[in-house]
Amino acid sequence: MDRVVIFDTTLRDGEQSPGCSMNLGQKLRVAKALKELGVDVIEAGFAAASPGDLEAIQAVSREVPGPIICSLSRCNRGDIEASWKALQDAPRKRCHVFLATSPIHRDFKLKMAKEEIIKRAVDGIKVAREKFEDIEFSTEDAARTELEFLAEVVERAIEAGATTLNIPDTVGYALPQTYADALSYLRKHVRGIDKVVISVHCHNDLGLAVANSLAGVMVGARQVECTINGIGERAGNASLEEIVMALKTRQDVFKVQHGIRTEQLFPVSRLVSQVTGSYVQRNKAIVGQNAFAHEAGIHQHGMLTHRETYEIMRPEEVGFSRSQLVLGKHSGRHALKERLTALGYKLDDAQLDKVFADFKLLADKKKEIYDADLEALVIHGQLLKGQQMWDLAALSTTSGTGTLPAASIALLKSDGARFQAASAGDGPVDAVFKAIESITGVAVKLRDYRIAAVTTGEDAQGEVSLEVEHDTGIYRGRALSTDIIEGSARAFLDVVNRIVLKRGESTRSAQVMEEGTP
Ligand code: KIV
Ligand code: ZN
Repeated sequence: MDRVVIFDTTLRDGEQSPGCSMNLGQKLRVAKALKELGVDVIEAGFAAASPGDLEAIQAVSREVPGPIICSLSRCNRGDIEASWKALQDAPRKRCHVFLATSPIHRDFKLKMAKEEIIKRAVDGIKVAREKFEDIEFSTEDAARTELEFLAEVVERAIEAGATTLNIPDTVGYALPQTYADALSYLRKHVRGIDKVVISVHCHNDLGLAVANSLAGVMVGARQVECTINGIGERAGNASLEEIVMALKTRQDVFKVQHGIRTEQLFPVSRLVSQVTGSYVQRNKAIVGQNAFAHEAGIHQHGMLTHRETYEIMRPEEVGFSRSQLVLGKHSGRHALKERLTALGYKLDDAQLDKVFADFKLLADKKKEIYDADLEALVIHGQLLKGQQMWDLAALSTTSGTGTLPAASIALLKSDGARFQAASAGDGPVDAVFKAIESITGVAVKLRDYRIAAVTTGEDAQGEVSLEVEHDTGIYRGRALSTDIIEGSARAFLDVVNRIVLKRGESTRSAQVMEEGTP
């Protein structure tokens, strides 16, 4: 049976979307989880975009053996050499070169004629061939490119040595039928196309990214580019979990295989949601909280008599765990490890020690510990934090009717220095934020602030999530605590740390993106 290559671009196209940036530790954590999930290719970044991207690709190349590690490059020697530097240590590596082909990109962005586009593409692929064997070429904005010209570019790219040909719908303009027709046209008219893998890469501006990608598979595409939770530029990319579960559930139609361990889908989705601070909507297919909830009485009755009356997939297949009481104060390390493994989290000894210590602290505050509590502990724990400039050392607040809300706070800087500040505010949370701003010097405008209980019960942990505006962009932060003021302080620090990291990266950024990023 044919195999479809699952190419994950969460760390490149996904991370590129506003508010979804990740630090090095977080990228590594996600890359390791993607490997466990069984993806074939991890696009770990765009090496020439910033030194931070290059370092992250390097780290993934060294620490995540197994999948092919890929770096994006424009069609120029500098970018391709940056990708080579980043990927050098990867046991399996791929250079992904791209160039826009549509009239609108040719005329307004690149200001290049058709012949120049072909020459630039061919030259770029030849430069990549000097170092790489595995070369993917993408015709950016292919879905709005004249078919005859697209076929010509693809044919020349294959002659020049590309081994995977990606046909992106960069702006989410295609419809399933038009996209499938375009791929069929290429399969019919391009010489040598049977020797390369045809890839699909669809954006979701019309909500059709998954449908278009699957239409591509129906007419012979054998690589799908996608992201966890569908994160990505604007409305996002095709969602990996939806693609994979469609291929699995409707194998009768697609008749293709893939290497994804589907029971890891839910844990990886939660992980990406947490590290990017980007929520998964409740009714999101496959990984939304409601994806397997049956509310209507008639449905519940059907489910009780025969599950398949209303369920086309089993929640266990995607690693979805219904919130249940699992552990308590007296549970040991072994029981915790077993439960985490059942939930899809494979931790090494040091990580388990950390989660176990946090579990014991939580068990002192909270009688009943549910699966969702454990997941939150794993994901929010230090495991994910990576490089943090600021940490919370101490906090106290006062508030009440007729009193001026105030906060005093102590923060630890990564070099060990301790700083203290006090501030008044409209409420205790506002006072905490102001005190943190005065210590760190990072001033932001709060756009969104939410608290949600992780589980039911009066002693439930609160998950605080924030979205802020800063000169350098939009940032999101999250934190968990049984104390919502402390949770708010930690979520605010999460945001501050992301801003500090981004600032450092931009000042170190080696190259001006003269052609714009895809
Ligand atoms: O959307 C796009 O065209 C891209 C390419 C670089 C593959 O992300
Ligand atoms: Zn894209």
